Amino acid sequence: MTQKIRKAVLPVAGLGTRFLPATKAVPKEMLTIVDRPIIQYVVEEARAAGIEHIVFVTGRNKHVIADHFDRAYELEDTLKSRNKTEALQLLEKLRPAAGSTSFTRQQDPLGLGHAIWCARDIIGPEPFAILLPDVIIKSETSCLKQMVDVYSENGGNVIAVEEVPEDQTHQYGIVELSDKLSDRASKIAGMVEKPAPGTAPSNLMITGRYILQPEIFSLLSRQEKGAGGEIQLTDSMLALMETQSFTSLKFEGRSYDCGSKAGFLSANIAYALEQPDLAAELVPFLHDMINKREAAE
Ligand code: G1P
Repeated sequence: MTQKIRKAVLPVAGLGTRFLPATKAVPKEMLTIVDRPIIQYVVEEARAAGIEHIVFVTGRNKHVIADHFDRAYELEDTLKSRNKTEALQLLEKLRPAAGSTSFTRQQDPLGLGHAIWCARDIIGPEPFAILLPDVIIKSETSCLKQMVDVYSENGGNVIAVEEVPEDQTHQYGIVELSDKLSDRASKIAGMVEKPAPGTAPSNLMITGRYILQPEIFSLLSRQEKGAGGEIQLTDSMLALMETQSFTSLKFEGRSYDCGSKAGFLSANIAYALEQPDLAAELVPFLHDMINKREAAE
C-alpha cells in the first residue's frame, strides 16, 4: 500500500518578466485563459487528483492569489442581493475549503529547488505532488490523477514527461528512460537540467508535474547550485535516484506552456473552442483571419 498523496506544492514566486508590462502589477499566474486565471486550472487539476491541501510558495506582490482563493464578501453579497445565483454557485464551487490552503514566501529567487524546499515544514514527512503553474495540461483525466494511479501501482517518485523537438531540449529538464513498465510508464535511468545543445540524453522533457517522496527535502537543503546558477529540483531528484525509484509517465493530454506568449495564446484558443457559444463566433473569425493572412502572403 502506498501512502496517499494529500498535499501539493504550487511554486508561484516567479516574476513573469516574459509578460511585462502585463505582469508589472498582476502576477503571471493570474493572467486569464478565457474566463479564469491560469492558476485556477492548475488547482482544479490537483483537486481532481484527490489533493486535499495546496501549498502556494509565493513572493512579493502575489497577495491577489490568496485573495482569489478566499471568499469575496462584498462581491458575493452583491451577487446575492441581485439574485445572480449562477455566478454565486460558480464562486462557491471553485473556492477551496477553509483551511485547505497554505501560503509561504520564497524570500529570495534562488531557483525552483529552493522554492520547493520552502514548503518543507508544511508538507512534513509524507509524499506530495508539485505542479508548476506555468504549464496547464488539457486532458480527459487530470494529468496529476494519471500520475497518482501510476504511483499507486509503483510507489516511489513519478514525473510527467513529454516529447519536445531536439532543438528545444536545452530549455528543460530532460530524462533518460530504462525499462518500460506499461504503455505510458517507464523507469527513469537519469536526468539532467537544461543540457547544453546536442548533449541531451533523449528528447523527453520534464513537464512540470511531480510526485516526490519527502526525502527530497534533505537533499534540497544542501542548497547546491546547478544550471543557470540556481538551486535546481532536477539535481536533487538525481541524487534521490541513488536510493529510490523514479517512474516517468507519458501522460494522456496536451500541455500548454503558459510561460511563453505562444503557449498562453494557444491555450486561450483551445479552451475557448471548447465552449460552444464562443466557438460559434470564433471559428468563422479564425478562418477569416487565416485566409486574409494567406492571401496577403
Ligand atoms: C522547470 C524545471 C524543468 C522543467 C520545466 C517545465 O524549468 O526546472 O526541469 O522541464 O520547469 O516547464 P523552468 O521552466 O523553471 O526553467
